[in-house]
Amino acid sequence: MRKIAIMTSGGDAPGMNAALRAAVHQAVVHEVQVIGISHGYEGLLRSAFTPMNLSSVDDIIQRGGTILRSARSQRFCSKEGQEEAIANLWAEGIEGLIVIGGEGSYRGAQALAGMGMATVGVPGTIDNDIPGTDYTIGFDTAVNTVVEAMNKIRDTATAHERTFVLEVMGRASGHIALTAGLAGGAESILIPEIPNNLDDVCRRLKWSSERGKVHSIIVVAEGVASAYTIAEEVKKRTGFETRVTVLGHLQRGGTPTAFDRLLASRLGSQAVEVLLEGGTGVAMSYVNGEVRAVPFDKVFAGSKEIDRSLYNLATVLAM
Ligand code: F6P
Repeated sequence: MRKIAIMTSGGDAPGMNAALRAAVHQAVVHEVQVIGISHGYEGLLRSAFTPMNLSSVDDIIQRGGTILRSARSQRFCSKEGQEEAIANLWAEGIEGLIVIGGEGSYRGAQALAGMGMATVGVPGTIDNDIPGTDYTIGFDTAVNTVVEAMNKIRDTATAHERTFVLEVMGRASGHIALTAGLAGGAESILIPEIPNNLDDVCRRLKWSSERGKVHSIIVVAEGVASAYTIAEEVKKRTGFETRVTVLGHLQRGGTPTAFDRLLASRLGSQAVEVLLEGGTGVAMSYVNGEVRAVPFDKVFAGSKEIDRSLYNLATVLAM
C-alpha cells in the first residue's frame, strides 16, 4: 500500500487532531503517502483531497476540533453517493482509508470496505457510545468539561440555596452524564438507559434538604428530557427554587486531556499498521488498556452498556 487517505466525520471530538497527527507520523515512517479528506464524506464526494506531511500536523496535538473539518453527509448515505465516493478514491490512487468518527461514520466506512476499499475506523465521539471499545476519543475531555462546569455551578447553587438541573450531551446514551455526574458529585443522574422516576429524585432532594444540604445538582442526559421540563417538574413537586444550565456544544470543544491525546495517538498510529497489514472492515478499539482491531460487524452487533455499578455508586454518593 503506497497511498492512504484519512478523514474525520460526524460530530467532532477533542483528540481527533491527535489521532490524525499520529496516523500521518506512522505513515511517514512506512513511506506511505497520506491524503487528508476535508469535511468527511461530503468532502469525499467533492474529491476534497490534500496531500499531508509531517508539517501538516505540526502544532495540533493540543487543539480541539479537527483541522480536516467534519460534516454529516446525506448524499453519501445513498448507493449512488457511495459509488461516486469510491470512484473518487480510486481515481486518486488511494488504496486505504481511515475514518475517525462515531457509529454513523463507521457505517459509511463499512459500506466502502464492502465495495473493495481497505477501510479502518477510529472511534472519535464524545458520547463514548461505540460498542467494542472501552473509550472513544473525546469522551474524557467532555467529561472533564462537565465536571469543571459542575464545580462552578455548585458555588452559586450553594450561595443561593438552589437546585440546578444541568443538561449534558447524549441523545441516546448516558455515558457523559453518568461519569461526569459521579465525578462531580451530582445529587441525581438521569440517563436514557435507566428508567427515571422523578418522584424518587424529588424524595431524595427533600431528604437531603432536611438533613441540611442547601444545594443540589441534577445531571440529565439530553436524550431523557429537556432540563427545563425537569426543572419545572421538580419545582412543582418540591417547591424548591430551580435553575437550568444547558452545556450544549461547549462539551465538544476544548483542548484534549492527556488521556484523550494518548488514546488518540495509540489508535491513530495503530490504524495505519492495521491497514498496512491488510486489515479492512475493522474498527480500532481500546479494551483493558490494549489496542486492537474489531470487525465492524461485531461492533454493530454489540451494545455499549452503562456500567450499573457506577450508577449504583452514584446513588450512594448522592446521599
Ligand atoms: O457528538 C455527539 C453529539 O454531540 C451528541 O451528543 C449530540 O446530541 C449531537 O452530537 C449533536 O450534534 P450536532 O450538533 O452536530 O447535530
